[in-house]
Amino acid sequence: MSGSALYETFARAPLVFDHGEGTWLITDKGERYLDFAGGIAVNSLGHSHPHLVAALTEQAAKLWHVSNLYEIPGQSRLGERLADATFADKVFFTNSGAEALECAIKTARRYHFVKGHPERFRIITFEGAFHGRTLATIAAGGQYKYLEGFGPKVEGFDQVGFDDIDAAEKAITPQTAAILIEPVQGEGGIRPVPTQSLKRLRQLCEQHGLLLIYDEVQCGIGRTGKLFAHEWSGVTPDIMAIAKGIGGGFPMGACLATDEAAVGMTAGVHGTTFGGNPLAMAVGNAVLDVVLEDGFLEDVQRKALLMKQGLASVADEFPEIIEDIRGAGLMLGLKCAMPNTKVNMALRDQHLLAVPAGDNVIRLLPPLTVTDAEIHDALNRIRAGAKGLAEAIASAAAK
Ligand SMILES: Cc1ncc(COP(=O)(O)O)c(C=O)c1O
Repeated sequence: MSGSALYETFARAPLVFDHGEGTWLITDKGERYLDFAGGIAVNSLGHSHPHLVAALTEQAAKLWHVSNLYEIPGQSRLGERLADATFADKVFFTNSGAEALECAIKTARRYHFVKGHPERFRIITFEGAFHGRTLATIAAGGQYKYLEGFGPKVEGFDQVGFDDIDAAEKAITPQTAAILIEPVQGEGGIRPVPTQSLKRLRQLCEQHGLLLIYDEVQCGIGRTGKLFAHEWSGVTPDIMAIAKGIGGGFPMGACLATDEAAVGMTAGVHGTTFGGNPLAMAVGNAVLDVVLEDGFLEDVQRKALLMKQGLASVADEFPEIIEDIRGAGLMLGLKCAMPNTKVNMALRDQHLLAVPAGDNVIRLLPPLTVTDAEIHDALNRIRAGAKGLAEAIASAAAK
């Protein structure tokens, strides 16, 4: 055996976290890190949130798992709450984002199948997208680095440029079933899609009988200051995949759809062993209790503004390190003027955790419960990291 028994698929930082408290992670050596990575937008309410811990432990003492062969009251309740809060009428629970996307893709294909158009199975996607690591979702994402070596690409995905709605229109054929888009691209580099573009996509869907699918796995559940990012545009989808934040760290996802879009998803056509399990449902309901509290999302919007303004002033101070600030709500990106991996290391040296993304961006995804003081603390660490990098550049140039 070479080294660890684990697959070598992750390039892990040499950090071992022992426990978490709110926005903080504490290593096995007792060092404290300010967590603005949030498990990549998963720890929506930070670490060890008392309401989530209570919900999970209470459920754990009662019942861990029953099959979807039986009624699961927590699942019906969470389904109804998600439907009440969104465009959707129907919900299917999964264990992950990729599975939520798989369900979304299958829902769209089945819709056309039961409408008498089995030939309509193709889905238009956008460059820079990330939809997961299953065979179908790497095909949807279309990124060569994730497809290479895994055999023939799953058929049925046609990709156009990011925010290139003219190209999306041209890509529509009699075989097209749906358009799939992240309202704010996450892995692609924190790139919000303009409202006007979402409006045009909606129109194209109406015009050609296509379904509009949103992937809100990363940008959903309060991340942008609304429960779902697309609410800023007022443009609703027919189907939507969510995950990450809804579990607050417990693995879960969901596919939401209108009655009409879900018309093909009848008994026996799709399934899951673990999806919608009582433990996950207890946590999902607890996350919604907090996120839907009066004033919670407004406070996220206020804190997001504070953070964005602070970041803009750091970028003004160190343009040789940070070129631009982008994003929405507490889903912010630093477009770097030097390799983002170096900036990420400099932030980690300041005990601030962030996540690199595509397009040479560093993602900042603090918990929605982050305090003003923690935002100021993070800004100081980012300023210190940028200053150190700027000084290193200046002294190298002087040599
Ligand atoms: C937008 C988006 N979609 C889908 C996924 C896949 O989710 P998971 O890793 O839970 O399968 C991710 C994960 O990063 C994501 O950011």
